[in-house]
Amino acid sequence: MKTAVVGAAGRMGRMICSLAEAAGMEVVAKIDVAAGYDASWPECTEGVIDFSHRSAVPASVAKAAAAGIPYVLGTTGLTAAEQAAVAAAAARIPVVQSGNYSLGVNLMLGLVRKTAEALGAEYDVEITEMHHRRKKDAPSGTALMLAGAVAAGRGVKDGRKIIYGRHGDVGERPEGEIAVHAIRGGSVVGDHTVMFAGDVERLEITHRAQSREAFAAGAVRALEWAAGRSPGIYSMQNVLGFA
Ligand SMILES: NC(=O)c1ccc[n+]([C@@H]2O[C@H](COP(=O)([O-])OP(=O)(O)OC[C@H]3O[C@@H](n4cnc5c(N)ncnc54)[C@H](O)[C@@H]3O)[C@@H](O)[C@H]2O)c1
Repeated sequence: MKTAVVGAAGRMGRMICSLAEAAGMEVVAKIDVAAGYDASWPECTEGVIDFSHRSAVPASVAKAAAAGIPYVLGTTGLTAAEQAAVAAAAARIPVVQSGNYSLGVNLMLGLVRKTAEALGAEYDVEITEMHHRRKKDAPSGTALMLAGAVAAGRGVKDGRKIIYGRHGDVGERPEGEIAVHAIRGGSVVGDHTVMFAGDVERLEITHRAQSREAFAAGAVRALEWAAGRSPGIYSMQNVLGFA
């Protein structure tokens, strides 16, 4: 499969280029704003993997839609307008979008949802995520997916239940609140913990990515899966057959 990688000079992009080639894909364009990289992909391109910056996404996904080729989106931190551009493209092409392409986190999402369903809102949920000091957006896309899994498990649709950090005279913790905290430092690839804190016990579910290969391998697999699918937005849960 002739593949273009957007963000090819980055930490994820470099790993994806080497894993894609090892998986038998041909990387026909390494797109990045960094010097020495491509500005666009050739007409023969059959699929795109994007781990770049949110600002690059609208134009890139629209170009893939015009060309009718599948798009695997790993870039996180999109604004509502940027997400709308992804949705518009997905009316014409298959788009796989996930804040985390690792097998472990996708299993964790199911465990967290089931646990939240079983324990209910009497167990306070606090989510922590830690990433390397160069990560640009916060909280991580994965932390947002985990908060969504808790809300889904509790049958809650109200996004206002989710808060991001605490500071000042915040008062007592209201029942049902889902709190997300972002920690930055060192070279941490990605750690996530969902804590269920009850009155007499505390359950913690933790995932630690030890290498970016965990995400890159999943993204390559997602593009292979997306080829030939109907237009729409798919998740890594769809790719793995979990949803
Ligand atoms: N979904 C996942 O599994 C997953 C895993 C890890 C990282 N990420 C996300 O992937 C993205 C990249 O992460 P990273 O750690 O590789 O970051 P990085 O900063 O190392 O790399 C990003 C690359 O994108 C390039 N870039 C910036 N603007 C661009 C543009 N307009 N066009 C083309 N290229 C552009 C930069 O020059 C850089 O080389 C981030 O949004 C990160 O949160 C997602």
